[in-house]
Amino acid sequence: TITVDPSARGAAIGDTMYGVFYEDINRAADGGLYAELVQNRSFEYSTADHASYTPLTSWTADGAAEVRDDAGRLNERNRNYLSLGAGSSVTNAGYNTGVHVEKGKKYDFSVWARAERGTTLTVTLEDAAGPLAKVREVAAEGAWRKYTATFTATRTSNRGRLAVATTAPAALDMVSLFPRDTYKGQSNGLRKDLAEKIEALRPGFLRFPGGCLVNTGSMEDYSEASGWQRERSYQWKDTIGPVEERATNANFWGYNQSYGLGYYEYFRFAEDIGAMPLPVVPALVTGCGQNKATDDDALLKRHIQDTLDLIEFANGPRTSEWGAKRAEMGHPKPFGLTHIGVGNEENLPREFMARFKEFRAAIEAEYPDITLVSNSGPDDSGATFDTAWQLNREAGVDMVDEHYYNSPQWFLQNNDRYDSYDRNGPKVFLGEYASQGNAWKNALSEAAFMTGLERNADVVQLASYAPLLANEDYVQWSPDMIWFNNHASWGSANYEVQKLFMNNTGDRVVPSTATGTPAVSGPITGAVGLSTWATSAAYDDVRVTSADGETLLSDDFSGDASRWTHTGTGAWSVQDGAYVQTDTAAENTMVTAGDPSWKDYDLHVEATKKSGK
Ligand code: AHR
Repeated sequence: TITVDPSARGAAIGDTMYGVFYEDINRAADGGLYAELVQNRSFEYSTADHASYTPLTSWTADGAAEVRDDAGRLNERNRNYLSLGAGSSVTNAGYNTGVHVEKGKKYDFSVWARAERGTTLTVTLEDAAGPLAKVREVAAEGAWRKYTATFTATRTSNRGRLAVATTAPAALDMVSLFPRDTYKGQSNGLRKDLAEKIEALRPGFLRFPGGCLVNTGSMEDYSEASGWQRERSYQWKDTIGPVEERATNANFWGYNQSYGLGYYEYFRFAEDIGAMPLPVVPALVTGCGQNKATDDDALLKRHIQDTLDLIEFANGPRTSEWGAKRAEMGHPKPFGLTHIGVGNEENLPREFMARFKEFRAAIEAEYPDITLVSNSGPDDSGATFDTAWQLNREAGVDMVDEHYYNSPQWFLQNNDRYDSYDRNGPKVFLGEYASQGNAWKNALSEAAFMTGLERNADVVQLASYAPLLANEDYVQWSPDMIWFNNHASWGSANYEVQKLFMNNTGDRVVPSTATGTPAVSGPITGAVGLSTWATSAAYDDVRVTSADGETLLSDDFSGDASRWTHTGTGAWSVQDGAYVQTDTAAENTMVTAGDPSWKDYDLHVEATKKSGK
């Protein structure tokens, strides 16, 4: 029984209550939201990014091709370039299965080159079946210069290859192929289907760029003085200006990040989707397993100054130093920054708080209206969490960022988590949460939990599921909200829940109470985009059908595990003809069909529950 009291006034719910947390994890940026189709376009991949990388990763050479790091380079921040001999060529394999092009669409090629007069660069776009567009020829001569050409795809393919051949010795850098059809048609823009899926959520805020990405690695900048640091924390100044002058970096999640998608592009995206921008800056304490505090006072002061400069970049007039850089990049109007996160999951609460206070003092002095978000450490329970919260309360911080990834059961059992939070203490930014799985029951448990967030909207003021994006071929973290490869993207069941809440955010809570637990019985039926869950312990069989009733896959759990793949947290095996989860603690298991073409269907799943359960 649900009892509603329409005359009582519950907490007001802000327009920014539900948002998204974007981190460059699972190749969310390069090969993902950033629309560039060439992988390792500036030949900067290195073993510092990933043990298997070389400067020619994703390239194959025919003839004389050598990556050089010498005074002949394009500029100081773009250290490597390719030296290509006469009659030689290089071919790029793109991301996933290759370069994706669609028939009839335009693709902008560009390259920076240094060559003798009379050099011709021949650029081809093809796959194993032949050309994908008319061959382009570019006449190059003299010192470093940018050359461009446009392709119109004559066929659709997601296995394309982009090749550049030269008639005479040439130096090449920043070899790029961009779809003309980006999100809102912007240059250096975003992949349309992914950006539109995020836009469709109607998020109230965009937290970026991480996560562990922000508060790990060296806090040094990218300069000769620092020895051209390869594993440095994410620092916003590295990521703005002309793309060929943005240094690349080793991404915490084990790959190279180009910073082609940088702070300007994040602010622009937040504005385009009507979301409040919420950047996170490093706090000079490293978390995420690194757990060190930097005692270099000059370095701390430099990061604090960088944060002040960030506010000026976002909000300053075009006559200010950093506001001028924003205007030069194409956005004279301020972006309207109001919130900044300092640090992420800091495991050393005392060291963190000491530094946070210095950030706060400097920012309050110049920008008293900016809300600074502190954090509560890596976990939602235990001594570190309690100490962090105590310090945050004592310091009277505005808002504390909490994170947790727990089982669906936990989410169901903790609907009342915030009922007992101090109404007069710091507000909560639930910056990262997810139940462990992308199955329907996970989405349902998150939805149930979100009703508890909403009921406590006077305390919980911002909340975002995490992570947002995952390229299916480069997964470091699962589950995720939106999945993609080089040519398609699909939202999870969890995505649908987020969309439902974000598109229907109320103005005010109407107090209600419920008694009795609704019973769950009969077959579980639902439309899913990606996957479903079923275990032999609980189900007799599972059947996956298309929207028009065609059976695509059915299983009575009597064998043949090869038809399924499993990405749950527990061990998974077939024993005595039945699917068995050997790790009973892992109550959530995600099972997906092995045939990659299956997700192009509008799928329906029906699983028959074992009698008596
Ligand atoms: O969302 C993935 C990671 O989870 C984030 O980088 C980090 O903040 C958390 O541990």
